[in-house]
Amino acid sequence: MAKLTINGEEIDAAEGAPLVEVIKNRGEFISNLCYIDGLPPYAGCRTCVVEIEGARGFQLSCTTKVADGMVVKTQSPELYSTRQAVLSLIMSYHSDRCLTCHRVVKCKPGDTCLRDDTVTHRCLTCSKNYRCELQTTCEMLEMAGYEPWDGDERTYYVSEQPPADQANPFLEFDPQMCIICTRCVRACDELRHTGAITLAGRGPSTRIAFGADGPVHDSNCDFCGACIDVCPTATLMEHPNKWGATQTERWTATTCTQCSVGCTIHLGSKKGRGVIVRPDTNANPVSADQLCVRGRFGYDAVKTATRLGTPLIKRNGGQDASSWEEAMDFTVASLARVREQHGPEAIGFLASPLATNEENYLLGKIARAIVGTNNIDSTAGPVVSAAASALRGAFGTEVLPADGLRIALSKTLLVVADDLESSHNVYAVRVKNAVVRNRAKLVTVSAIYGEVNDFADVWIQPKPGDEPAVVAALAAAVEGGDANGGLSLLSPEAQTAFDRAVELLNAAKSEAGQPFTAICALPTFGPSAAGAMVSAMGNIAISLAGDDAGQALLVLPGDANVLGMRDTGCAPDLLPGYRDAADESARVEMQRLWGAQIPTAPGKDFTRMSADGIKAMVVLNDNPAMLAPDREAVRNLLSGLDFLAVIDSLPTDTANLANAVLPDGGAWAKDGTTVSADRRVLRLQEATALKGESRQGWQILSELGRRLAERTNPGEIRINYANPAEIMDEMAQVIPLFRNATYREIDSGAQQNMDGHAPTTASQTQTTPPTISRNGKFALTVSRGLFTSYEAAAVHSSEADRLHREDTVRMNPADAAALGLSNGDSVTLRNDFGQITLPVEITDVVQSKALWLSSLVDAGTAATLYSAADSIAFVEVIRA
Ligand code: SF4
Ligand code: SF4
Ligand code: SF4
Ligand code: SF4
Ligand code: FES
Repeated sequence: MAKLTINGEEIDAAEGAPLVEVIKNRGEFISNLCYIDGLPPYAGCRTCVVEIEGARGFQLSCTTKVADGMVVKTQSPELYSTRQAVLSLIMSYHSDRCLTCHRVVKCKPGDTCLRDDTVTHRCLTCSKNYRCELQTTCEMLEMAGYEPWDGDERTYYVSEQPPADQANPFLEFDPQMCIICTRCVRACDELRHTGAITLAGRGPSTRIAFGADGPVHDSNCDFCGACIDVCPTATLMEHPNKWGATQTERWTATTCTQCSVGCTIHLGSKKGRGVIVRPDTNANPVSADQLCVRGRFGYDAVKTATRLGTPLIKRNGGQDASSWEEAMDFTVASLARVREQHGPEAIGFLASPLATNEENYLLGKIARAIVGTNNIDSTAGPVVSAAASALRGAFGTEVLPADGLRIALSKTLLVVADDLESSHNVYAVRVKNAVVRNRAKLVTVSAIYGEVNDFADVWIQPKPGDEPAVVAALAAAVEGGDANGGLSLLSPEAQTAFDRAVELLNAAKSEAGQPFTAICALPTFGPSAAGAMVSAMGNIAISLAGDDAGQALLVLPGDANVLGMRDTGCAPDLLPGYRDAADESARVEMQRLWGAQIPTAPGKDFTRMSADGIKAMVVLNDNPAMLAPDREAVRNLLSGLDFLAVIDSLPTDTANLANAVLPDGGAWAKDGTTVSADRRVLRLQEATALKGESRQGWQILSELGRRLAERTNPGEIRINYANPAEIMDEMAQVIPLFRNATYREIDSGAQQNMDGHAPTTASQTQTTPPTISRNGKFALTVSRGLFTSYEAAAVHSSEADRLHREDTVRMNPADAAALGLSNGDSVTLRNDFGQITLPVEITDVVQSKALWLSSLVDAGTAATLYSAADSIAFVEVIRA
């Protein structure tokens, strides 16, 4: 710590901290138009000048590091006029009419300019008006009336301005507004490690360019929006709601639910509709100032008009609008009838990783304590529970304390994922941080190319489907055992990579105190592959990190709230808080906590629900008709049910089959919490209005539970809640993992209290990778693409991927040549489960005899080709 004096006041600050940040953190305004907090200074704008005792002339506060005894003055007439002078130079390249106009406080957007009717560009006609850093800086430095160039020709107004690029759906680039502060270049390079933006030209013609100086969408920009956040002008702007967001009425702190990273966001809304997203830097410290395109723009993927606004009841083959009263009566009567006729085991419940903890908890309580069945799972259940049982085998618990913050601090990383960049984008950014900033060694194992592989010291590329066997071989090799089985699956080049990977990983073992992190993104399909992969990763973590293995292994479910779903007991074998449903004392404890009996008969998981005997289902936000493998069987199950109730905000394929649809709000309208892959409890708050008569999911479940309880008489059970805070209060008592998460105490983004859950042992386990039989067919990998919105895909929108980067099946050039295919040709993929037809994209991101498809393309059509067991589908490819 250093002691320094700023404007006569003595303060403490970290020795070596950038002075500009210390000044800003005191709450003082200082112009700093080219500085980005946390990054090295660029020192281009020169607006951050201060006086430092003993130094000659003025100093830039962004390049000055705090030192003990420093005496700083930030305010004086000379400093002020110097800042005005440098700002006037910046403004001479900018549309500055309003900035220097004495009438600016009187004019409103749309008013005719009384000063100069030939000027079309000015703040009052600019989409950044009232939320612009350059504008604020000019106001703070009182630039109105500051016109030293009066009578001179102005650079901005005499030069022809370049056209704006508005050709993509997310990011607008209007170079005429640019002040060449280079913040965007540095954000894209140093915060994102993407490097899509460069400085082009020289001297006075210097300008910002994307990629090879073409349109933004032709560059490698992945539309994360980090450059928009730092741009001090209107040069880089969100395309959706660009104008609507100028007068945001409310900002709400909430959480992205589009993957298990759980980035925290501020959602700006107007008239109850989301219009803009910014990262919430004060909540989840792993996401901090970063988001991906899904978190940034996903709020806008489905329009309100598409959402459900009224309950629906199936009558005469169609679904008709009904009142809540009627829909609730119908649902309760139908479930009660099935229960009376066939017993509680004939009813199944599907929870969802897209639902909140509070909603999933209530669903589980209804299933077990009110209806009386352990039949509760989700479409994601089989893969996730296979991974969980592998963890329990190794660590005695599936609750690992691994923290996403550790990624960027690691010295060695092993990443096993189809494409981490796309599936868990912000974790991929943290992996890149470790490599770039911390010089970490990175080993990746993936069958297809993803951007993270560019940062790897070693990329082992197995054939699709062989990943678990290869990771098992890696585990054996780092343990000094025999890797032959797995090695024989690799090409000679991949075997060389494997040997190098073993060396790198073994070096991590010997470097005590150098954190090693293993990241395993679970596959979309294939429980046995998921289980084998996690078991092998556990073995590697134990070999390399020893007692620290539970901290070192980060297992990433695909969807947002998978862990919360398990915490709340939404699996047939788990009661809330990971109590074993088969254990008598656990059951007795739950009965005491809930004040109701819970069943002893083992429950069915999703696969068994599909296979036998279920007569009625209640589906909360899940969408098995779209997301589950073995699609035909699943759709037959759903359409053959005596009764299906769906709680969702969208007319999904599953909702369309339902006898009763109870409309709730989408993720941005929800109140509740989720749990991230690294066990942070994250708060969701209602940021957008519910459509029509739709209700919060917890409200629907509370009412449904109350009415069902009147029919089933489970005793004095609490199911009526006034708000989700009351549900969390109860959860905090029932599930120790949530004991610090009551809404009074919650620190959104803090890790759960894992006392009593975290591993106390770590033992290596036997890995049994699934057997693969290729038979000369193409191996199709299906994983989450970066750009496709689940919600838009669920309603079959042709704009689910607004960039249309993931609408195709990817095929290697050698295979395309052999089949005589060109880009865009239609191909049919066929196997015993079904067939799908879609255009081909020829690219070497996939190997020969391999194909890749986004799991959500064309409303998740790839699921048609999958069995319930496999992680890879083997298909024939026919020219369509
Ligand atoms: S970018 Fe800012 S300063 Fe420039 S015209 Fe727009 S609001 Fe005014
Ligand atoms: S949106 Fe993200 S990837 Fe694209 S240029 Fe901006 S910072 Fe770079
Ligand atoms: S685009 Fe924005 S952030 Fe980038 S240099 Fe121009 S003004 Fe600065
Ligand atoms: S990384 Fe995941 S949680 Fe974060 S913004 Fe992207 S989809 Fe949302
Ligand atoms: S912020 Fe210091 S020179 Fe720009």
